[in-house]
Amino acid sequence: MTKKLRKAVFPVGGLGTRSLPATKAIPKEMLTIVDKPLIQYALEEARAAGIEQFIFVTSRGKSTMEDHFDVSYELEATLAARNKKAELEALRQWLPSIGQVVYTRQQEPLGLGHAVLCAAQIVGDEPFAVLLPDDIVLSEKPCLAQMAEAYADVGGNLIAVMDVPREQTNKYGIVAPGATDGRLTEVKGLVEKPKPEDAPSTLSVIGRYIIQPEVFGYLNRRERGAGNEIQLTDSLARLIGEQPFHGFRYDGTRYDCGDKSGFLAANIAFGLARPDVGPGLADFIRGLKL
Ligand code: UTP
Repeated sequence: MTKKLRKAVFPVGGLGTRSLPATKAIPKEMLTIVDKPLIQYALEEARAAGIEQFIFVTSRGKSTMEDHFDVSYELEATLAARNKKAELEALRQWLPSIGQVVYTRQQEPLGLGHAVLCAAQIVGDEPFAVLLPDDIVLSEKPCLAQMAEAYADVGGNLIAVMDVPREQTNKYGIVAPGATDGRLTEVKGLVEKPKPEDAPSTLSVIGRYIIQPEVFGYLNRRERGAGNEIQLTDSLARLIGEQPFHGFRYDGTRYDCGDKSGFLAANIAFGLARPDVGPGLADFIRGLKL
């Protein structure tokens, strides 16, 4: 029987150097898509998948994220005094309940695997989701909710995957695939950022995972991988053969907001999908002389 998925880890300790100068004084995860910071999209996606505890692995200079998920007395008092009831209601509606968010710090940016390891004590001995907020998926049903449904059937470890052009395999974790059944593909191997000629496929891992707690034992060995970082992919690869392990082809379009053009594309795609700003934005785009 699969254990219920209750916890999600958000590794947000990275420096965001590709997004400079925007990320000099604000965290990458606070960059906005239309009118919401990336981290809020990620938290809402986790909540829609039934997650009850949100674990943020942060670092120095990231405290605006904590403020974002806290009550802002001054703002609320001002909105109340101006009788802006709808705005006040909207502000309260998405706040996590008391005690639902846990913050811990990654003291040094030693890699994604290291960031996940920082959450080990808080996760304990149960399965957990990992969401990288700079990967954002536009879909009818949120990506993690799709994965949670598949997980209830197959258990084990599940990673969201998509096909990429072969010349881009050196930017991603790449799957060595086994049998495919619908949206699920058996994972036989995982390689971090292989050169196109060495890549076992073009099926790449995106920032959504459901992981069994046994991964912490491997992460705790703190072995360095690609880029001299402690890679999550390397420890996940050790679970292959020990536990069920599947790639999940989600329904939706993923945008890499850690990259400037991906971030701009996400703003356009999410903007067009919004009933309030979409029609005006579409008119503007149609009028562009490209
Ligand atoms: P990235 O590879 O995008 O790295 O990390 P980064 O440092 O955030 O950004 P660039 O490359 O310098 O622009 C993928 C995810 O892993 C987290 C990041 O916060 C991001 O969500 N991460 C990465 C950590 O939490 N800690 C790390 O040491 C590295």
